[in-house]
Amino acid sequence: MSLDCRNNFWAESFPALARADQSLARLTTLRVGGSALVLSPRTHDDVRALARAAAERGERLRVLGLGANVLVSDRGVPEPVLSTRQLRECRFEGRRVRAGAGTLLPGLVNAAARRGLAGLEPLVGIPATVGGAVAMNAGGRYGNTFDTLASVTVMRADGEIEERTPAALKPGYRRTELGEGEIVVEAVFELEPAAPEAVLGRTQDVLAEKGQRQPLDAWSAGCIFKNPTGAAASAGKLIEDAGQKGASVGDAMVSPKHANFIVNRRSASASDVLSLVERVRSAVFDRTGVLLELEVRLWDGESSDVPALEGVLQPT
Ligand code: EPU
Repeated sequence: MSLDCRNNFWAESFPALARADQSLARLTTLRVGGSALVLSPRTHDDVRALARAAAERGERLRVLGLGANVLVSDRGVPEPVLSTRQLRECRFEGRRVRAGAGTLLPGLVNAAARRGLAGLEPLVGIPATVGGAVAMNAGGRYGNTFDTLASVTVMRADGEIEERTPAALKPGYRRTELGEGEIVVEAVFELEPAAPEAVLGRTQDVLAEKGQRQPLDAWSAGCIFKNPTGAAASAGKLIEDAGQKGASVGDAMVSPKHANFIVNRRSASASDVLSLVERVRSAVFDRTGVLLELEVRLWDGESSDVPALEGVLQPT
């Protein structure tokens, strides 16, 4: 079946939720990449209907939150993209907050702080939706998403809703285990009562410290590579030591502030970013023998426009 035919199905079956030919550059923080059909459910019933339609048709849906950890190819992607951004209902219940997958993490951190609920401060400054933060176990030096997570509500591919314990998602370093076709629709965090001024103060401290080290205002996908396991240094240091800080391809540049960020100065393409990724990987590999692995998820429209990332460099 042609792509147009498939898109027609979604547009005709879900006219209020589907929009064809949407720029994914505009829906992602690195601001590169082509377009796709985007589905924007507003309720769990909408998600259920979309998940069931996809399962019946044997189609895969890609799930997008704030788009802060994806690198979309210049051709976009052929699969429908389910954006969780409209699922943003958020309720405080005593020490707990139940937040829809599309809730923006920075807003949630601040709302909890103002109510005198502590625990989310480590997550301030992480550009993410709640769903994306859960799916990737987003975090940093002060803590990770799973530290305060009490439960996660998942929509299965067959449209059934399941409440999972955090442990059931087997969280690891920037990863969790979700089943095929499963979508995080909601998460509950359990927080500690504290003086609002204290929590707000800590939130500001974490943000200020982060802002000194990272290019928070630039268009980027956060850290582009994982920190290598077992290596003495983090990816940022390895890249800087390999002389790549400030290196650029087109408008894609290795941030002069933090070498594990690739920033889009204005009009970078995905292929500029990927060429720079390759250059950085080669430089680090030549100097240290460490093969950096992408931390961002590659959304690859058709493999031909994406330089092969695996296999070009073999670890010794
Ligand atoms: N460093 C350099 N040069 C650089 C960058 C860093 O020498 O250009 C050095 C620093 O001086 C420091 C060490 O490398 O000694 C580690 O740097 P940093 O503290 O900035 O932490 P990181 O390991 O680079 C990790 C996470 C970040 C998270 C920070 C802070 C990964 C890949 N990165 O970075 O997460 O914000 O810790 O908690 O795990 C992300 O996941 O997208 C991300 C940005």
